[in-house]
Amino acid sequence: MTFSINGRSVAAVPAPGQCLRTFLREQGCFGVKKGCDAGDCGACTVWLDGVPVHSCLTPAFRAEGRAITTIEGLERDGRLHPMQQAFLDAQGFQCGFCTAGMIMTTATFDEAARRDLPRRLKGNLCRCTGYGSIADALDGKVNVEADVAGNACGASLSSPFAHDIVTGQARYTLDTAPMEQMLHLKVLRSPHPHARIKAINSEKAAAVPGVVAVYTWRDVPRRLYSTATHEDHLVDPDDTYILDDVVRFVGQRVAAVVAETVGAAEEACRLLEVEYELLPAVFEADAAMKPGAPVLHERSIAFHDNIYVDIHGELGNVAEGFRDADVMYEQTYSTSRVQHVHLETHGCLAWRGDDRRLHVRTSSQAPFITKQKLSYLFGIFDRDVHVFTERIGGGFGGKQEMLCEDLCVLATLLTGRPVMWEFTREEQFIGATTRHPMKTRVKLGAKRDGTLTAIQVNVVSNTGAYGGHGGETLAAALGSPIAAYRCVNKKADGYAVYTNMVPAGGFRGYGASQTTFAIECALDDLARMLGISPFEIRRKNKIHATDRIESIWKEPSDVVMGSYGIDQCLDLVEAALASGRGDPIPEGEDWREGTGVALSMLESGPPTEHRSGAEMRLLADGTYHLAVGSTEMGNGSTTSHRQLAAAVLGTRAGRIAIINGNTDRTPYDTGTFASTGTVVAGQAVEKTATALRDVLIDFASREFRCDPADCRLQDDTMLCGNRTISLAELHAAGAAQGDRFEVRRKAYLSPRSVGFNVHGARVAVHRVTGEIRILQSVHAADIGRLINPMQCRGQIDGAIAMGIGWALTEKMVYDANGAMVNAALRDYRIPAFADIPRSEIYFADTHDSVGPLGAKAQGECAINAVAPAIANAVTDATGVRFVDLPLTPDRIFERLGSRHGPPRKAYR
Ligand code: FES
Ligand code: FES
Repeated sequence: MTFSINGRSVAAVPAPGQCLRTFLREQGCFGVKKGCDAGDCGACTVWLDGVPVHSCLTPAFRAEGRAITTIEGLERDGRLHPMQQAFLDAQGFQCGFCTAGMIMTTATFDEAARRDLPRRLKGNLCRCTGYGSIADALDGKVNVEADVAGNACGASLSSPFAHDIVTGQARYTLDTAPMEQMLHLKVLRSPHPHARIKAINSEKAAAVPGVVAVYTWRDVPRRLYSTATHEDHLVDPDDTYILDDVVRFVGQRVAAVVAETVGAAEEACRLLEVEYELLPAVFEADAAMKPGAPVLHERSIAFHDNIYVDIHGELGNVAEGFRDADVMYEQTYSTSRVQHVHLETHGCLAWRGDDRRLHVRTSSQAPFITKQKLSYLFGIFDRDVHVFTERIGGGFGGKQEMLCEDLCVLATLLTGRPVMWEFTREEQFIGATTRHPMKTRVKLGAKRDGTLTAIQVNVVSNTGAYGGHGGETLAAALGSPIAAYRCVNKKADGYAVYTNMVPAGGFRGYGASQTTFAIECALDDLARMLGISPFEIRRKNKIHATDRIESIWKEPSDVVMGSYGIDQCLDLVEAALASGRGDPIPEGEDWREGTGVALSMLESGPPTEHRSGAEMRLLADGTYHLAVGSTEMGNGSTTSHRQLAAAVLGTRAGRIAIINGNTDRTPYDTGTFASTGTVVAGQAVEKTATALRDVLIDFASREFRCDPADCRLQDDTMLCGNRTISLAELHAAGAAQGDRFEVRRKAYLSPRSVGFNVHGARVAVHRVTGEIRILQSVHAADIGRLINPMQCRGQIDGAIAMGIGWALTEKMVYDANGAMVNAALRDYRIPAFADIPRSEIYFADTHDSVGPLGAKAQGECAINAVAPAIANAVTDATGVRFVDLPLTPDRIFERLGSRHGPPRKAYR
């Protein structure tokens, strides 16, 4: 068969039933991505005879004789297509995994289509951008600024990978030609929430042509570990085996098959015969804590029965605080189980190199910790394992987990052959981690003027079948959301509980999102009871700039107020909501309008355990090389790292080549999570660049006999008094004397600062259909100095969109057996272009004393205030408090009553 791919004639025969997506990737078109393989996400969009199609739904043979165009074929005569240029100018991406598909769809738009974006873009999803920068690209906006020497910090500079992203050349985790002898791995997952595996018959599976091996729990090292990746291995329970003889949730790995093709591995999995002894299961955390509930783990793992960890603390005396109160308010709030839905699913490729070492190419946010875990599990010397990342297609905490590397490595060690495993979207839902659902009881006491006299919080967190991140997220839940408010008397109790559900893990906001939702809703209701405004109650009780940041447990804290922008954030949001901007309420008597606000505070990074290193050197041509251990998953850390280094060295960011996330080629980094890319790795970069600058100045002053005070780096030169020496010349002079101009520095995350976010929403609620429309979305963030304003806006836009999804649509739904029933993007419903309003985004003018060049964490905290602000706006509109997320139309309808009746009651 002959295909025309990007004007090139290709003779090839697709496999029976093969889709065009995988066929094109086999031809080297790696710009054709997979987000779902079900026609939902658009990441695989290509043109057939100029018409965009989802290539995952198109049989490859149907493309024979037709003109196929992929993102790689869009350039003409070395010139970008205007839509590629538009995405480049606006930087209409973050991780960029959706970008090729977005461009292939939008490049066909005429004026009418551009006026109808909500409908025309419904087949292309983006999880990172909140669609703000994508809309900018379609509006022809230019967001990038010129790269000017000495002006790197604070400029909206382009990502170093921008051109590769818009042309489809950027390489993500599995964008690589198949290795010789490469095998594919697939797993059989448990259909039962709790069962003992009595026997596995693999005879039929092994007989499938192409199957090389089947592995069960008998074939793996019997070593307990945690899939969570933290610097301190003691913060997560070692409660997991690579493969186990007990399954504890629907979706747990039962057996693995490696085969010559994905199809053979999948067929073999279907033919495995497993004999289970069913065990009683428990799905809700409250029920799992009760005496007599089925117990998931041995006592040596769970502290008592199913409670993996409990945390208790008190400041002052809450009983007295409630006695002193004029009013009290108490309510229980619950948040749902949601998934990260990074568009790139988990993936890994492992092989033995010619050096006999193990090489692992992975989508992990923490390659260095993954390397440690692999060394431990398989008893391999650390030096014999190399783990690295390419560009990662989104993470949001979901890839702070070792979910696929272990089995790929096992199979590579046992077969001696390269092994690849890529999660399907369904596996991502049923076999990866989620946000912890939490039930939070909040009790507040206050004086009549709104001054808080007592805060009491009780959290029950459902950590699922395994406990990784269970303790750390619980601690975060009981930390900053409570510390954000001044009150002498505070008490908190928390429990992380094992259940027979898919394990929860790290997720943007990391536990604090859930309690921020509860506390911010409760505070709003308290203000309503007292007849004061939601802004006033927050201003009256918020933490002050000179306050110590106290946790409810008595250990000394390393959290400091490195900068303080909460007042500015509240003022900015209040003014914006009062401006009259945004959409008017829709016509019709059943619409109700309301506004809401919420505040969040979050530490710039995880507690006392994060390390990062950077290495920098001057190259012979006078440019720089920067190596950083952190990973790039769309958070923009490579862009800001180059800018930080360029600012210190007085040069342009474009003169700095950067590599990252590679255990052989970059210094150590704990991992890119909890916003540490900017704060910790950024500090390492700043220190390293400063040290290199000092080394260069020291050498120049000696070599050219000039006072160091008169030596200065300026773009590609060193100014020594009135002499100008090119950096290439300087390098040559150094090389002649054996100087390498290479430095390494490390950073450690302590002390930590805090960031603040305030979100405001004006909504319309239809009391009959339960529809909620966001009429105005306003956000103010205190993230210190903006290293790259465009990128900061992008992070906030993305966090708002994720917060809106959490508030309104997203929920993993399970049947009575604990099996997820909406494990597909079309049923789970992350926000599409049509669902997200353009937000007004403001930044407080602050400069942090802790973070690199005054910057603070940005990507994490912003999400926390979004859902409570929307929930508070809904309450303002309807007079009814909705205490469970998401605020779906059926829930609204149920509480608001019939078409003709008034709202049934105010508050529960
Ligand atoms: S991969 Fe084809 S639409 Fe998602
Ligand atoms: S930039 Fe769109 S999914 Fe990451």
